[in-house]
Amino acid sequence: MEVRTSNLMDLIKSRKSVRNFSFKKLTQQAIKEILECGFALDENLNQPYRVNIVIHPTVKMMLAEVMPQYADIYETASCCLVVFLDLKKSDKRDSDILAIGAFVENILLAVHVLPEIGAVWLGIDSDIKEQINEIFKLSDKVYELMGIIAIGAVDEEVDNYKNIKQGKRRSVEEFTDWF
Ligand SMILES: Cc1cc2nc3c(=O)[nH]c(=O)nc-3n(C[C@H](O)[C@H](O)[C@H](O)COP(=O)(O)O)c2cc1C
Repeated sequence: MEVRTSNLMDLIKSRKSVRNFSFKKLTQQAIKEILECGFALDENLNQPYRVNIVIHPTVKMMLAEVMPQYADIYETASCCLVVFLDLKKSDKRDSDILAIGAFVENILLAVHVLPEIGAVWLGIDSDIKEQINEIFKLSDKVYELMGIIAIGAVDEEVDNYKNIKQGKRRSVEEFTDWF
């Protein structure tokens, strides 16, 4: 498989959120491989997640109705991974949510390995969790929405989000102490 770089550190440092997608589709096989990279992290732990893989335009449109600010992301992304905490599997909430964060980050990095493919992690406000669960007919007693990852081929021609506030990455000195 073609890769962007074989140097893992370069890869991690060069990852950027992508919000401008072309209509080019990812294969189901590629999506499955990307997901396997998420799972790779904690195969001995309880893997407290459920992911709904959204590829159908109608379901994407339903997501866009709940989050209209990202309508063009939902319309153009090849797939959206809707990531839930599986409350049946979750016995240690803090570490399970951390596991989901690591799962999502692994997926973002796996996407970045693939040339011309990008992704963005969309965080979820508490007030829309119920509406998203309703789209999938999932009980909020059993599945708690954690985030959505939109993935697709990068469209270099458009950038509807170029004015989005880009935080400056802090220097290591700013957030570390040595003991
Ligand atoms: C927990 C989390 C939630 C995020 N939620 C959103 C979001 O709702 N919308 C969005 O456009 N980007 C979201 N992002 C992406 C950040 O905005 C992005 O990572 C940040 O702007 C840094 O840019 P970079 O990823 O290109 O380095 C989120 C990132 C994280 C880690």
